Amino acid sequence: MLMVKKTVVPLSAMFLVSVGCAQQVSESIGESMVRYHASTEARDERFPSMALETPRASVGDAPDDFPVVVSFGRDGDRWTASVKIDEGTSLYGTGQVAGPLRRNGRVVETWNTDAYGYQDDAASLYTSHPWVLAVRADGSAFGVLADTTYRCEVDLREGIVFRAEGREQPVIVIEGESPQEVCRKLGELTGTITMPPKWAIGYHQCRYSYDPDDRVREIAREFRERKIPADVIWMDIDYMDGYRCFTFDPVDFPSPSALNADLLDMGFHNVWMIDPGIKLEVGYSVYDEGTKLDVWTKKGDKTTTFEGEVWPGVCVFPDYTNADVRTWWSGLYEEFMGHGISGVWNDMNEPAVFNTPTKTMPESNWHNADEALGGPGDHARFHNVYGMLMVKASREGVMETNPGKRPFVLSRANFIGGHRYAATWTGDNSANWYHVDVSIPMTLNLGLSGQPFAGPDIGGFAGNGDGEMFARWMGFGALMPFSRGHTAKGNIDKEPWAFGAEVEATSRRALERRYRLIPYIYTLFRESSLTGMPIARPTFFADPTDAALRSEDDSFLLGSDLLVVAQLQPARDRVSVLPRAVGGVAWRELDFPSFDGGRDSKDPDQPRLYIRPGSVIPSGAVMQYVDENPLDPVTLIVHLDSQGRASGQMYEDAGDGWGYLEGEYLHSTYTAAREGKLVRVRLSASEGDMPRPERGVRVRLLLPDGREATGFGRDGEEILIPTP
Ligand code: GLC
Repeated sequence: MLMVKKTVVPLSAMFLVSVGCAQQVSESIGESMVRYHASTEARDERFPSMALETPRASVGDAPDDFPVVVSFGRDGDRWTASVKIDEGTSLYGTGQVAGPLRRNGRVVETWNTDAYGYQDDAASLYTSHPWVLAVRADGSAFGVLADTTYRCEVDLREGIVFRAEGREQPVIVIEGESPQEVCRKLGELTGTITMPPKWAIGYHQCRYSYDPDDRVREIAREFRERKIPADVIWMDIDYMDGYRCFTFDPVDFPSPSALNADLLDMGFHNVWMIDPGIKLEVGYSVYDEGTKLDVWTKKGDKTTTFEGEVWPGVCVFPDYTNADVRTWWSGLYEEFMGHGISGVWNDMNEPAVFNTPTKTMPESNWHNADEALGGPGDHARFHNVYGMLMVKASREGVMETNPGKRPFVLSRANFIGGHRYAATWTGDNSANWYHVDVSIPMTLNLGLSGQPFAGPDIGGFAGNGDGEMFARWMGFGALMPFSRGHTAKGNIDKEPWAFGAEVEATSRRALERRYRLIPYIYTLFRESSLTGMPIARPTFFADPTDAALRSEDDSFLLGSDLLVVAQLQPARDRVSVLPRAVGGVAWRELDFPSFDGGRDSKDPDQPRLYIRPGSVIPSGAVMQYVDENPLDPVTLIVHLDSQGRASGQMYEDAGDGWGYLEGEYLHSTYTAAREGKLVRVRLSASEGDMPRPERGVRVRLLLPDGREATGFGRDGEEILIPTP
């Protein structure tokens, strides 16, 4: 077994605490970041971290006054790590978990699980994030990461307790002045997303499955004819030839290239599914090749290939823990992507196995893992990172084939840090009101655990639901970072028009909001890619000292400036708590014109929107897909604070490709200031080498009396708006 180099950390840089007979060790690994080890032996024999983007060496002693102390112990066969919390501390994170946003009192277990139709008490879902964000009463915060890939219980009934299998692994604590600072530091440690292609932040339409190819074309045409904005159509497993990955059904999908080209003509991108289970069938090239190269995961005897049933029947499973296997897997994408495929969906990668008692591989299965991953080991150690390593390889394959394009990969299973490789969704939810409600807290806790690019299956995967439910789901789902409608085989149609004219109108209004706000949302993706900040943030981020906001999870912040108060169950009379007024200026309700006249806020299924005092939100006209037309004019929505000031950012680039990394972007800061009876709006800072387009700017100035004033000008020039 590979051990981490014993000389990594000089003993002098250690802080030793005696606990029982073991000597607990702590070390600083960066500003306000301390790593604890159960003992020097545990430190020296730990596995390489899968969560961290790059290994972190000790940079000295942990500060004497570091406010969070981890205590190691044992509970039967498991090692434990505990952190006490003060009264008034709220706990969040723990990744993709059912139930409320605030996690105090909850117990979950990291163990990637195919959890079709999961309920509130689900202990484990599809992804694993052994990470807790704690927000103290005074608004300061800390985060705790149990840096283990093994099954790990996260018990938040009394303080924070991790109970994990396997050998003792490090526990990392991040201290911060605010939860935002802890999120940014988590991003420093675990990495951030890269900018997705811009089409991926549009609306996605999926179902299991659109089949045959003409049905796909029909769906695309319907969107365009009905003028419902959308960017992507998805191909679920039925496009394959007998569920053989990297093949196409010769009858129903005879020419994927022609289909993708037709979609592109209509302004649609496409995403196609690939699963890890490879049909065991001599003569099927992927199976034959993989067998020749000996890439399949083995049983506990380390030599016999493990077989398990998934969609195609009996399958074998690539051992993604091995670099040669990952290289082989990446290579499979070359021909596949060559059909004009824009994005890839990796599913069932917990991995899901139908015919074992645990619905996954036996924990005794054997992986021929790289030395860099700690060397070979059993599935118990690699289960939670199987999906992560799969999407790492998929992403690399996609990028090798299309080096000039940004990859888009969606993964069902993942591990903390895996946001570096793929976006995610909240798995197989159900068309019921519980799942409408939890869509928001689940997405928020993923964001607080490092994964900002997430959202639910809008409309519910399992079961049908009804028009009202769909309308409400679409209302706020259209404003989630990853916005996709999806449903299971056998269900009724769930496209935005499937429930009749009224729901179609609501869906159009909801999606028109998203597309108007794309300049703002794209800017948030940029921020997230630089800092790790979530895109959808809990409402308490508006004021972490306000205890009244700590449990708000029927609303969320999009970035820091826009509050989305979802309309959830129609029968509920609960009133959402809004952030407090700042200096006497309240968050101000915002709406947009509706396509059929009037205002979109008159639609009771739309979320209420509120804009933060002091902000400038960039927006644009409705488009049927992102960048359908140039952004002209830019509409700046301005809500002045108590000092009569406001500012906001807008990030733009080519929407795809890597030029932005070489400076080909435009990052504009717009500020507004009241001067007597005038409000002056100007471009106060501009970064990046992209030339500023010749274009108009329209200002929507929200006046204190509830009315609006409008100003017009050219981008880059000052605009003066008289106010009453
Ligand atoms: C899994 C996925 C679901 C997909 C289905 C068929 O259940 O979670 O999204 O539609 O498999 O591929």
